Amino acid sequence: MRLLAVDHPLIAHKLSALRDKHTNSPTFRRLTDELVTLLAYEATRDARVDEIELETPVGPAHGVKLSSPKPIVVPILRAGLGMLDGMTRLLPTAEVGFLGMIRDEQTLQATTYADRVPDDLTGRQCYVLDPMLATGGTLAAAVRYLIERGADHITAVCLLAAPEGLRRVENETGHLDVPFTVVTAAVDERLNDKGYIVPGLGDAGDRLYG
Ligand code: PRP
Repeated sequence: MRLLAVDHPLIAHKLSALRDKHTNSPTFRRLTDELVTLLAYEATRDARVDEIELETPVGPAHGVKLSSPKPIVVPILRAGLGMLDGMTRLLPTAEVGFLGMIRDEQTLQATTYADRVPDDLTGRQCYVLDPMLATGGTLAAAVRYLIERGADHITAVCLLAAPEGLRRVENETGHLDVPFTVVTAAVDERLNDKGYIVPGLGDAGDRLYG
């Protein structure tokens, strides 16, 4: 697993506003959208392209276009949905699949309650969207699941990650022979005893949609 914690003043500025408990839901949604677009720029650095020939108004030129099969973007419901527009703004031709996963607040175990991801992901580049990488159970399960379906390149875009969760995801996916990158706006200090990221930003799903 490769970790990319993006160091950029605009990202730090928007993330600080997201963390602020006084930021209301409409502002939180807008900031999430803007932040994801900035992270998406970094997350798509490995997007596959094919070379093409084209004509400018002045003459012939070489160019590139995104390769087929199209990449697939997979938001983890519910909170990942708040990241979808920000991602597809940069990848408008991507296919979108949905995974509904919920973490039990007592046991911290993740279970899947909805699956609208294509059965066959052979040769596909996948972008997983989930704002919080806390214990890592949700992301590790999602990555294993996409690899089982044939995905051969996975990038997770998260707003925040906890060190404990990153270690768990590495332990549970590191042996799988698929390039996997986590792109995040920040790696925070730790998890608290309720499995929340500290200092974090609270419950992203509730702040987006509660
Ligand atoms: C949150 C978050 C992640 C998950 C992270 O979702 O959006 O999906 O928890 O936790 P983990 O790393 O410990 O597995 P939640 O289960 O609260 O569902 P929601 O998105 O519907 O609010």
